[in-house]
Amino acid sequence: MNIETNIDTKIETKKIHIFDTTLRDGEQAPGGTLNLEDKIRIALQLEKLGVDVMEPGFPVSSPGEFEAVRQISRLVQSVEICGFARAIKGDIDAAVQATQDAAKRRLHLFISSSDIHLDFQLRKSREQVIEMARSMVSYGRQFVDRLEFSLMDASRSGEEFVMQLVEAVIAEGATIINMPDTMGYALPHEYGQLFARVRQQARGADKVEFSTHCHNDLGLAVANSLAAVQNGATQVEVTINGVGERAGNCSLEELAMVIDTRKASLNMETGIRPEEIYASSRMVSRAMHMPISFNKPVVGRNAFQHESGIHQDGLLKNRNTYEIMDPEQMGIPRKMIILGKHSGRHAIRHRVEQLGFKVDDAQMEELYVRFKEKADGQKIVTDDELIRLVGTTVNVATETYSLVDVQVVTSSERSRVASATVKNGATGANATYSAIGRGPIEALIGCIKQGIGFPVEFVDLELHSISTGEAAGGEAEVTVEAFGRSYVGNAMDEDILIAVAHAYMAACNQAAREAKAEGRWAEGGASAIEKADRRMWT
Ligand code: KIV
Ligand code: ZN
Repeated sequence: MNIETNIDTKIETKKIHIFDTTLRDGEQAPGGTLNLEDKIRIALQLEKLGVDVMEPGFPVSSPGEFEAVRQISRLVQSVEICGFARAIKGDIDAAVQATQDAAKRRLHLFISSSDIHLDFQLRKSREQVIEMARSMVSYGRQFVDRLEFSLMDASRSGEEFVMQLVEAVIAEGATIINMPDTMGYALPHEYGQLFARVRQQARGADKVEFSTHCHNDLGLAVANSLAAVQNGATQVEVTINGVGERAGNCSLEELAMVIDTRKASLNMETGIRPEEIYASSRMVSRAMHMPISFNKPVVGRNAFQHESGIHQDGLLKNRNTYEIMDPEQMGIPRKMIILGKHSGRHAIRHRVEQLGFKVDDAQMEELYVRFKEKADGQKIVTDDELIRLVGTTVNVATETYSLVDVQVVTSSERSRVASATVKNGATGANATYSAIGRGPIEALIGCIKQGIGFPVEFVDLELHSISTGEAAGGEAEVTVEAFGRSYVGNAMDEDILIAVAHAYMAACNQAAREAKAEGRWAEGGASAIEKADRRMWT
């Protein structure tokens, strides 16, 4: 166990090792399959994030998995790489071979320990399971110095048998003991007691490290993992965004932020770099095509957004009134306040000023009335809409580019065709562009892009339905990259394609505003395509 001393308080701070299994257990999430390229990208990001151990796959399960583990073992040198295997020789051989080039490695063997698994799945007696475990640990230890042994379904196995199996594998040289709550069934106090008892009573327990691995079927994975570390576990097995079988695994970002936020009470720390949390979460969500729920702790889009007027007022006076973590510390773009029908004058003025506009008191009153009319009819008022309201109120062009009209023709057989008329706020000119695409969005963005006076890369799109029935409209969130930075635009419309077009435009306008303010781009000229004289008509 690595105990570090906290100099200020002279209280010992326990280091909790983070074992990330996003690429193995996480990938077992239905529909979560990753290709080799995705796995490598995520592994490199996990290294940046500061995990201590990673499990890149299940080498015996397929040649692709073997190759992923092999390549990640070569590439990721600062993290301990874990080769996962059933307690079977063929699995062990594959895991050992796949990880042989890792700078630091361990072998991870598992076998079921609950009667229900033994009787119906393994069809083996407890004695047979102990024998298999003993002989495979002894076989595996020839190849590695660090061997983790997991008792699958430990929390439903009964303490007596857990104790026997743990003692048996320690005697054969296992160095890390993992007691998973495989089915997410345990209660925190029960699970904590299991760790306390096994650590106190099992022969050899003082020579090994203990690990926890919890599933989230009852929403208790983080609480159970915490109970285990409070009772002596020094390693927690987690996944980014909590992805995994069924309801998933203990979420890395939640566990790391519990330990970080409550470190004074817990006297624990991890090596996780909070500033990499958001990027890691987005990367896994995109690669697995698994959206993050709006209210997911830490990384959900509502996790740091405040709509209530009372909360907005408190936040503007002191962030700590309604926030216990600083989103910017986790690399989360700050959109602290969501404007909607509950927002007050104070919050609206604050946002308008943040966006770089000045309104006097009379204009503010007019804007407030317009804002409330708009907000009453919809869920939130986006920055883009607010800017347009400011423009109407002060009667000036507030946007660098605006969308005058779009038309999209879709087809099941042929390329999709779109045209868009874009107004250049600086020149006052309208120009219409056309493009084709494999899908309507590609065609649509292909047109609008031509009207923007700087290179913009369309990075990501999130679409959400905002109503039911045939008239279902949508909310779009578009991420673009321009001038080496990332910008996110939101928009809502009864027509989802129009919502995408406005969201894209909002993100481009943010980029233009920022680049202009920082003197990195001068507006006024014709767009790139206008300069090339490829304008179709005005
Ligand atoms: O959930 C589980 O029990 C596991 C082990 C095999 C580590 O994933
Ligand atoms: Zn698991």
